[in-house]
Amino acid sequence: SIPVPSVQELASLKLETVPSRYIRDDMDSIIGTVPSGKTLRVPLIDMAKLIDSESQETELQKFHTACKEWGVFQLINHGVSDESLRNMSKQTQEFFDLPLKEKKRWTQKPGSLEGYGQAFVTSEEQKLEWNDMIFLKALPIEDRNLEIWPENPPKFRESLDRYSQDMRQIAVALTRFMAMGLEIESQELCDAYEEGLYQIRMNYYPPCPQPERVVGLNPHVDIDGFALLLDCGDTPGLQVLKDDHWIFVEPLDGAIVVNMGQITEILSNGLYKAPEHRAVVNKTKERRSIVTFCYPNLSFRVGPAKELIKLGSPPLYKTVTVEEYIGCFFNRKLEVPFIDAMKI
Ligand code: SIN
Ligand code: FE2
Repeated sequence: SIPVPSVQELASLKLETVPSRYIRDDMDSIIGTVPSGKTLRVPLIDMAKLIDSESQETELQKFHTACKEWGVFQLINHGVSDESLRNMSKQTQEFFDLPLKEKKRWTQKPGSLEGYGQAFVTSEEQKLEWNDMIFLKALPIEDRNLEIWPENPPKFRESLDRYSQDMRQIAVALTRFMAMGLEIESQELCDAYEEGLYQIRMNYYPPCPQPERVVGLNPHVDIDGFALLLDCGDTPGLQVLKDDHWIFVEPLDGAIVVNMGQITEILSNGLYKAPEHRAVVNKTKERRSIVTFCYPNLSFRVGPAKELIKLGSPPLYKTVTVEEYIGCFFNRKLEVPFIDAMKI
C-alpha cells in the first residue's frame, strides 16, 4: 500500500485549490439535493416507545418500515446518557487537535487499518478521500491492541472503554427489536451481539476549499451487522442514497444514527436493506463522527433466518460464519459488489 498524507495537515496550508488526487470529477454532483416538491427525511425511531408496551406495536411498525425502506434511521431515547456521548465526542476532538507528531505515536502499522491514519490506496492514480481517522477494535476486550490506543488525551482510553460498552448495549437492544420486526427467534441473535465485535472508527473531515469536487468518504455499503454513528457537531456530512437521491442525515443532538450493514440484509433474506452512503465535506466547517461497526461473534452463522425461508421464499444468500464472511470480504474481487459473493 502507498502512504497517504494527513488531510488535516493539508487543510492547515489553507490552499485555494486541493491537489488533483482529491478532485472527483468522476462523480456527479457531490452535494446532495432533496428532490423538489418532496421532503425525504431519514426516519426517527424512539427506543423508549419500542420498550413501552402501550406504544410498542405502533413504533415497531415504524421501525420495521424504516429498516425495509431506508436501512438507516435516527435513534432517540436509546438509553445511553448524553454525558457518555458528549464525553466521547470531546475526547475525539482533543485527540484530533493534538499535533500530528503526537498523534503519530498511535499510527497504523503497515498494511493495517487499525490506528491513526488514512484509508490506504494501492496505486498512485487512485483518488483520495478528504478524511483522517483512527480505527480501533474495542470489544471483545481481548481484541484491543492497546499499543495503538491513544494515551493522550489522558481520558481517551477510559472513555472509549465505556463508550464501546454503551454501544454494545444499544446493539443488543436493537437486535431484539429487529428479531421482533422480522418475527424470528431473538435469543441466539442477541447473544451473538452480546458477545459480538465492536470496532470504532473516528473520522475527522477538515474544511475543504472545493467541497463540490471532493468526497469525505467514497460511496459504499457497510459489511457489518449495523453501524451506530455519532455526529459530533452540527455540520451535516453523512448522506444516504434513497430513491436515486443523496439525502443528508441531519445531525440531531443526542441521537445515534443506525445504519444497516450486509449481515442484516443477509439475515433478513433481503428484507432489510443495507443502504449505500457516503460522506461529503464542507467549505468552512470541520466535522467529526464516531462510527461503531457492530458484528455478531465470529462463530455466529450468517445466513437467512430459518423462519423466513418458506415455500415461495427461498434463501437468497449462503450461510457462513462471521469469521468466514469477513475473510471472504478481504479476499473479494473488487469488480463485483461484495454481497454478490454471498448470493446463492
Ligand atoms: C460518517 O458519516 O462520517 C461516516 C459514514 C460511514 O461510516 O460510512
Ligand atoms: Fe459506512
